Amino acid sequence: MGTPHLLIRPGNPEFLDLPWEQSVNDWVHERLVEMPTGIHRHPVVFVAYDEGVFVIKELPRRLANGEYQVFRALEERTTRSAEVVGLVERMWLDPHDEQSAAVITRYVEHAFPYRHLVSGPGFGPRRDQMLDAVAGLLVELHVSGCFWGDCSLSNLLYRYDAEAIESIMIDAETSRLYDRLSDGQRSEDLEIMKLNLAGEMADIAAMTGLDIDRADFTLGEDVETRYRSLWHELTEELVITRDESYRIRERIGRLNQLGFSVNDVDLAPTNEGSLVMMKVEVGGRTFHSERLRQQTGIDASENQARVILSDLNYYLAKHGSVSASGKSVGTFKWLTTSFEPMVSRISELRKGNPVQGYCDLLHHRFRLAQRREQDVPNEEALEDWVASGMPGFDLADLPV
Ligand SMILES: Nc1ncnc2c1ncn2[C@@H]1O[C@H](COP(=O)(O)OP(=O)(O)O)[C@@H](O)[C@H]1O
Ligand SMILES: [Mg+2]
Repeated sequence: MGTPHLLIRPGNPEFLDLPWEQSVNDWVHERLVEMPTGIHRHPVVFVAYDEGVFVIKELPRRLANGEYQVFRALEERTTRSAEVVGLVERMWLDPHDEQSAAVITRYVEHAFPYRHLVSGPGFGPRRDQMLDAVAGLLVELHVSGCFWGDCSLSNLLYRYDAEAIESIMIDAETSRLYDRLSDGQRSEDLEIMKLNLAGEMADIAAMTGLDIDRADFTLGEDVETRYRSLWHELTEELVITRDESYRIRERIGRLNQLGFSVNDVDLAPTNEGSLVMMKVEVGGRTFHSERLRQQTGIDASENQARVILSDLNYYLAKHGSVSASGKSVGTFKWLTTSFEPMVSRISELRKGNPVQGYCDLLHHRFRLAQRREQDVPNEEALEDWVASGMPGFDLADLPV
């Protein structure tokens, strides 16, 4: 018995008031709070502090150390992994002991486990969103040199992101980081993902009382297909002639549309004198969310940011704010007369992420305007949205 070794990132509580001498399963403490969890192996508890809610997962020291290091490094490379806050080591226990360490992460707000999205033997109309969510995250991790080693539906949390679903990696016990992954490593990770997903789809079928033959066993393969086409889009090497620089801009525009920022464009001469080989190095998938943060200070996920930026740009165009200073005055006006009041009204009206609520409202306003064939003011759109039960993005509208 003793006092554990705690490694805590700055800006967080010290967690010294917790009864570390006992296993988290035995804790009786005023900081404990109940939160919904997905399927998991290790004991997990949630604790509330002024700084927010935190998740404590108990596991053997070697695994805990690995997970802490990977999450810390991933912070620089993606926004779609849990934010690690601390590592706790009970040095008096054998390092293989199940209770010899714990990893503390910040509770991911407004997220839910995959079973919230299940309908019938699989994900029903949300299947396509799930394919994108899993494939997109895996590509992003691989681009940043992370071999996951255990990609599964239950090692992710999910969050509505405008018309899409965003996934967040919460379990990195088996992950390793490299400068870059080989094709073999990427394929191995995809094989693990397919095996895990097949097992999970069989579980879903069993859970919902359906025959195993009706399980969606091709989900993993479809994730792989989407993964491979996105990977190709990011890493494809193009040969262009020297007077085709517009193709460079086109390529960057396409990658930005997919949400990836472009760090470097590498133009190398080929053996045939006038030809140039173009490669791009992509960064995180935060192109629009960074832009929105820079322009307005608003924190939003990638697709939410894309939708909100077009609302802002539309507002600026409508109010004739074209010069640089006109734009910043216009942005301020949009923030204070449109975004902020709407978001605060939405928070009063319903629980959940108000930024997603704003995106839902914009979508509703757009549909209304289409039907009426004229612009609809915010107030009127809000009234109609509330009267219709504050709907989200219509699944039938989603691109297939
Ligand atoms: N940062 C987090 N925010 C919210 N919930 C979390 C977080 N980390 C873990 N959880 C919850 O705890 C459960 C277990 O997490 P996980 O890391 O997958 O543990 P295990 O290694 O036991 O599989 C998850 O299903 C999820 O519900
Ligand atoms: Mg897990």
